[in-house]
Formats: sequence, C-alpha cells, structure tokens
Amino acid sequence: MTLIFGHRGSAGTMPENTMISFQEAIDAGADGIELDVHLTKDHIPVVIHDETLDRTTSGTGNVNSQLAEELVLLDASAEFPEFKGKAPIPLLEEVLEWAASGDSRFIVNIELKNNIIEYSGLEEKVIALVKKFDLDERVILSSFNHGSMVQALKIEPRIETALLYSDGIYKPNDYARRAGAKAIHPLLRTVKDELIRQSRESSVSVRPFTVNSDEDMKRLIEWETSAFFTDFPEKAVQIRKSL
Ligand code: G3P
Ligand code: CA
Repeated sequence: MTLIFGHRGSAGTMPENTMISFQEAIDAGADGIELDVHLTKDHIPVVIHDETLDRTTSGTGNVNSQLAEELVLLDASAEFPEFKGKAPIPLLEEVLEWAASGDSRFIVNIELKNNIIEYSGLEEKVIALVKKFDLDERVILSSFNHGSMVQALKIEPRIETALLYSDGIYKPNDYARRAGAKAIHPLLRTVKDELIRQSRESSVSVRPFTVNSDEDMKRLIEWETSAFFTDFPEKAVQIRKSL
C-alpha cells in the first residue's frame, strides 16, 4: 500500500508545521507527517520551513538569530489568518512528545534544513530528542544535505535516513544504498515509473514530494509507489480508499 505523509502536516488546509496541522493530518488518516527543522540562536531544534520567519509567522528575521523562548511566542498562522492565536511555532521536542503520547504509531519524517545553513550539531540534537521519546523506529530523517544523512547514520544507525533531491541523480537507488539510506525523496517531476520499478527491485523506498493533484496521487498509487508527501492528506486518503 502506498503510504501517505502529510507535508508540513496538512499544509494545504492548515498553518504549515504547526501542531494543529500535524493533528489534522493524523485525524485524516495519514500514515505519517513531515516537518522541517532549524536550530535557534541557542541551538534548540525548532519546527519551521524557511530560514526566515517572515513568510509564515508574526516575526521577522532569521530563525537562527532568535532564542527558542522568543520563537515560541510567535504565531505561525500568517498564511491562514483564521487560525491566529492557535498556531504557535513548535519546538521539535513538543512535536515528538505529542507523537509518542498517543496510541497511533504514525511515522514522523524530520527534514533537517541544513542544505542552505550549516547547523553544527543539528544531527546530534535531533537524534537525542528522537531517543528521548523512544521514537527510533517511527522516525525517518531526511535532508537535501546527503553528507548530513551519512553523519546521522554514524551517530545512530538504527534511525532510518532518506535522501532528498530536486534534480536528477545518476542511478539514485545505487547512490542511496552507498549512502546507507533506506529511501529517496525526489521532487515529483523527476519521478518516472521506471524509477519506482527499479527501487522496488533494489528495496530502496521512493517517496516523491509534493503530490497535490488527484491525477498524480492516483498515478503514484497505481504504480505502487512506497509513499508520497502531500499538502492535502485528507484528499489523498479518500483517493486511496476509492481505488
Ligand atoms: O520532504 C519533502 C519536502 O518537504 C522537501 O521540500 O521545500 O517542502 O521542504 P520542502
Ligand atoms: Ca520539508
């Protein structure tokens, strides 16, 4: 079965990378959530997509120039103002505590946003939190920074890693296996049915992003793709049920 990951929670319907967005995805029946992590000025993993606060929050400036205690006071509903006051920026610790607390064993894909900014110690800090909540088997670490994923495996080989990419990679399945990664997370438009077939044979999972149209969802499910990321997990779950 093709698994459905709510991209930044349910980013098409809720303020992205917030607790209410993650809850929405899980309530809709998603098999997992995806979220993005940066480090604050005081080196605490915080859940937000951009390097800057401006697009999604009530703040401005760089995420890594503010303290965690300052960031958690900001509102992340800038793109969905109807949720103002209900969508603070979460720390990674808060999300993992929530994920560990329920009965549902959904997957948490933590994307390390260290492809533009180099965050020293990010892998160690994220892995320590994953272990704190005993989520080693339910977390997938991913990054466009493939060296970071190799580093993560050196720290804790039991936590699965995945390689993100937006342009073609030569023989991505072989490349992933050489890096010790269990999966590739390619940009949707780079994905052909041939890649899905080859991955199945090499046991490397393929999870394309970001899959929002009905047609693309149906196509990937019919190809028996491992999983995909979508801003509309509720719609994806309905489409999967209908096929
Ligand atoms: O992890 C899949 C996807 O989230 C990667 O791209 O820019 O949405 O973080 P982006
Ligand atoms: Ca992401």
